[in-house]
Amino acid sequence: MRKKIIAGNWKMNKTIPEAIALVKELKALAGGETAVDVVVVPPFTALYPVAQELKGTSIGVGAQNLFWKASGAYTSQIAPGFLVDAGAQYVLIGHSETRGRFGVAEPDFDDDVLRLFGESDSTVNRKAKAALAAGLIPIVCIGETLAERKAGTTDAVVSGQTERALAGIPAADAAKIIFAYEPVWAIGTGEVCGADEADRVCGVVRASVAKLFGAGTAEAVRIQYGGSMKPDNAKELLSKPNIDGGLIGGASLKAKDFVAIIAAGR
Ligand code: 13P
Repeated sequence: MRKKIIAGNWKMNKTIPEAIALVKELKALAGGETAVDVVVVPPFTALYPVAQELKGTSIGVGAQNLFWKASGAYTSQIAPGFLVDAGAQYVLIGHSETRGRFGVAEPDFDDDVLRLFGESDSTVNRKAKAALAAGLIPIVCIGETLAERKAGTTDAVVSGQTERALAGIPAADAAKIIFAYEPVWAIGTGEVCGADEADRVCGVVRASVAKLFGAGTAEAVRIQYGGSMKPDNAKELLSKPNIDGGLIGGASLKAKDFVAIIAAGR
């Protein structure tokens, strides 16, 4: 049995005082949760104070990105060791809001603002390896755009992203990686992917892991669904056999909603 994992991706929200206020509430409501793993993923600036505030609780802390180099002249980048130093145990990698649009010389800053940051499958792979080497658990995000879904390429896109993320990673490490299937068209739109379809695509991810590492590793790997998961749809999604948790955006910014989703995962 895979333990469910509910992670709250705060994205670019919460100042340090706001972050502390939110985790104080979460601590009171879910600080001793053991039936499911709970993780909060604040912006970098709030990572250390949030990790300090959560010491002694069962709630884990994750970062939203990392760079694969350990140190050096890489202005603006954050090394894996810095995240460990700040108290993180998890790190998001390849969120659709950081994946790039190669071949688009001048992105449309209104339409493409969420896909401007140049992440590719190979940077995702490097980041996953660097995270694992630093002892961090990668949460690797994958998912198709609306255009890809309409073109009928969902399964090929998702399995390709999964396989390329895992390139060159040993089986023992691969089992530690968490995947988050986030259909891009369902993120922040209120447009949730149907539970059966979300389960089916999570099954495609698992099959990709099985192809590379065998059934044992595929059965061990946890796969979250993300994209407009809310208290009222969480139970149905989280009861599906291939969905091992949720990566929650908007609904993780309110303690009550996030805790309701945690409860739905028990
Ligand atoms: P929403 O829950 O706001 O749709 O965001 C999902 C997400 O992108 C989590 O990483």
